[in-house]
Amino acid sequence: MLKRKISEGVFLLPSVDWDRRLFDSLIPLPDGTSYNAYLIEGSEKTALLDTSDPTMREVFLRELKRIKRIDYLIAHHGEQDHSGLIPEVLELFPESKLVVSSKGKEILMAHLRIPEERVQVVGDGEALSLGNKTLEFLYTPWVHWPETMVTYLREDKILFTCDFFGLHLATSKTYARGDYSLEAAKRYFAEIMMPFRSTIEKNLEKVKTLDVSIIAPSHGPLWDNPQLIMDKYREWTSGAPKNIMVLPFVSMHNSTRIMVDYLTDALIKRGIQVERFELPQTDLGKIAMALVDAATLILGTPTVLGGAHPYAAFAAFLANALRPRLRFVSLIGSFGWGGKTVEQISGMLSNLKVEILEPVLARGLPKEEDFQALDRLAEAVLEKHRNEGLI
Ligand code: FEO
Repeated sequence: MLKRKISEGVFLLPSVDWDRRLFDSLIPLPDGTSYNAYLIEGSEKTALLDTSDPTMREVFLRELKRIKRIDYLIAHHGEQDHSGLIPEVLELFPESKLVVSSKGKEILMAHLRIPEERVQVVGDGEALSLGNKTLEFLYTPWVHWPETMVTYLREDKILFTCDFFGLHLATSKTYARGDYSLEAAKRYFAEIMMPFRSTIEKNLEKVKTLDVSIIAPSHGPLWDNPQLIMDKYREWTSGAPKNIMVLPFVSMHNSTRIMVDYLTDALIKRGIQVERFELPQTDLGKIAMALVDAATLILGTPTVLGGAHPYAAFAAFLANALRPRLRFVSLIGSFGWGGKTVEQISGMLSNLKVEILEPVLARGLPKEEDFQALDRLAEAVLEKHRNEGLI
């Protein structure tokens, strides 16, 4: 971990995790990630903002041991990829206080057994002076847990946001550059932030009032054009979805695949953008990214053991958990002799405020009547997207 200067007395301490490929035992990390801590040296006091993932202990502590004194350890978020090394920092710097939001206190004491006497709670809007530098704390719940807060460094106009505006990207660059950073930010938004869209809108309004030159998240590079990422967050959280249909599918003996092929063509012919993913080979992050903008989700699944294929059920579970802006949902696939696939999948989508379009289930290989039903489904999607003003 090389300490990088951001501004006078302000340093980035990035633990770059080049090789990590899975987060939370679920989320693919095709480009690794980083856990960024920041050091702010004021004329009177020094603050460390967040720590690192416990897997990066050696890397993190090597740099930290060169620091003489830490008065405040600011914990924006209790998840262990930022908080996991707090106990070690408190031990290394016995003079330091752990500065947290009121919910942060509960969460950190529960997860890390931090002694209460080391904790200093700050309120929403409260300021803390380091001498010639002032930290202002703003509560921003649900980016990504209920306790999350951000820190605004007034004199330098830097906003430290932890998960908010982060991106899973291991890079030697200090600042986000190019379309690839935006794509990584969208993937991150889709996987981590999308379930909290309504509170993100409120948090965006809150930080909009600040004069910010740099957004410094705790994953990936920093944003020296804060407007760019704030506008993207606005686009991803608010307003209508786009004329896009997401089609994750699984096929066992090709009948469902034939239906998926037919429906894909029928939708493209009608001017609808199709994002198609074969399960389980697909990177889940790509499905999540497609769901950020999509208006319609159609799942393709055979009936197996009386219900949906487990991979299709997993895709439905994921879509329900991520709470995208979807308006319409349907299902296509084949069956051998019966089952409850439609009821099962519908029951798994209770978080989504969607209209269910007539599913198309074919017995065995699809026949002419099934292709006609797929044409009717494509026509229904077209009409619905037109009525929503998406075309
Ligand atoms: Fe990067 Fe929610 O932790």
